[in-house]
Amino acid sequence: MTEFKQINVGVIGTGWVGGIRANACAHNGIVDQIHVAEINSVRQKEIIDEINPTSVTDDWKNLISDESIDVLVISMTPETERFPIVMAALKAGKHVFVEKPIAPTIQQAEQAYALAEENNLKITIGYSRRFDPRYVYVKKALRDGLIGDPVTCLVSRNSTRELGNKITGRSKMSPAAIGGVHDLDFVLWCLQPRKPIRVYSQTSGKLFSRKSETPDHQWVMVTMDDGTTITVGVGWILPIGYPNYVQAWIEVIGTEGALTIDDTHKEVQLNTTENGIRYPLSSMPGEPVDHVFAGSMYDETGHFLEAVAFDRPPMVTKEEAINVMSVYNAADLSVERDEPVILPRNL
Ligand SMILES: NC(=O)c1ccc[n+]([C@@H]2O[C@H](COP(=O)([O-])OP(=O)(O)OC[C@H]3O[C@@H](n4cnc5c(N)ncnc54)[C@H](O)[C@@H]3O)[C@@H](O)[C@H]2O)c1
Repeated sequence: MTEFKQINVGVIGTGWVGGIRANACAHNGIVDQIHVAEINSVRQKEIIDEINPTSVTDDWKNLISDESIDVLVISMTPETERFPIVMAALKAGKHVFVEKPIAPTIQQAEQAYALAEENNLKITIGYSRRFDPRYVYVKKALRDGLIGDPVTCLVSRNSTRELGNKITGRSKMSPAAIGGVHDLDFVLWCLQPRKPIRVYSQTSGKLFSRKSETPDHQWVMVTMDDGTTITVGVGWILPIGYPNYVQAWIEVIGTEGALTIDDTHKEVQLNTTENGIRYPLSSMPGEPVDHVFAGSMYDETGHFLEAVAFDRPPMVTKEEAINVMSVYNAADLSVERDEPVILPRNL
């Protein structure tokens, strides 16, 4: 049997997603202690009830200075305030799992990777679609040549307006940077080794624009170096149905076939006299159902814990993380300039 030492994990920010990560760690035999930094006292109490962590603090610096902690999961918001925490964690010799985006700019992301490399640490970013079997099947089907040479890929994703409302309150980041990032990572990963060479994007806004600068929707069109086209659309104004409901539709058309993934979560319907039809188990990061987890986040978290415990490389590479950032940055620039942006850019 391979020898391994159990590891201690700190989770900074145990809201919706950080709460799932903390529970994923608590269910994982690789983990010994879990330490939590959370500023919301209600969430603190909830997470204590859920996983009984070894320690709870409202100051993330206490987790940085705790030498017993091997890994920090950074899930706090706003996203724009995370970079100093990432750098402090790496300076203190901790492996880092950070929700997207890894940093506000490509230069800062490169600094984080350089520091991780210098200190012999692992760093990864939460690109959860890579742990959904249906999405992985697209990668495998393309690699195995099942639909020939890819010609065009479409991902259209829409979530309910509660998500749009939440993001409007906390961040000025675009739909491409906040939500489209997952789909861009997924499609670019599937299409490797092709590289993006041109990006055109438009936003549309009629609802949130009444009260803020947040667009309702963003289309991103990417041309790859072999001529394959990608269209990724992300919006967050669906009427509220099931909490955090999200629906996605994926089409990959190739010279010898087509692949369609219906990720609209219609497979489980709950119809009640009180609420009408609802679609349980349909949120993007997934949710627990008694002893199992409906979604990819437990496997994704476990993958990083294993990477640390057994000294394996995390799945998302530095080049992939930077590549995705350069595409959504180009998309935002395209919106600003109202013209296509050529990649690679000399930043
Ligand atoms: N991978 C996915 O599928 C996926 C899905 C949704 C969201 N996300 C990402 O996950 C991240 C978290 O999103 P969320 O919806 O869980 O946010 P959230 O607002 O529900 O949770 C953030 C938590 O951080 C806490 N917090 C804020 N400042 C803090 C600080 N200084 N120290 C400690 N805790 C602090 C808040 O009290 C809150 O509980 C975001 O970056 C989001 O983009 C990923």
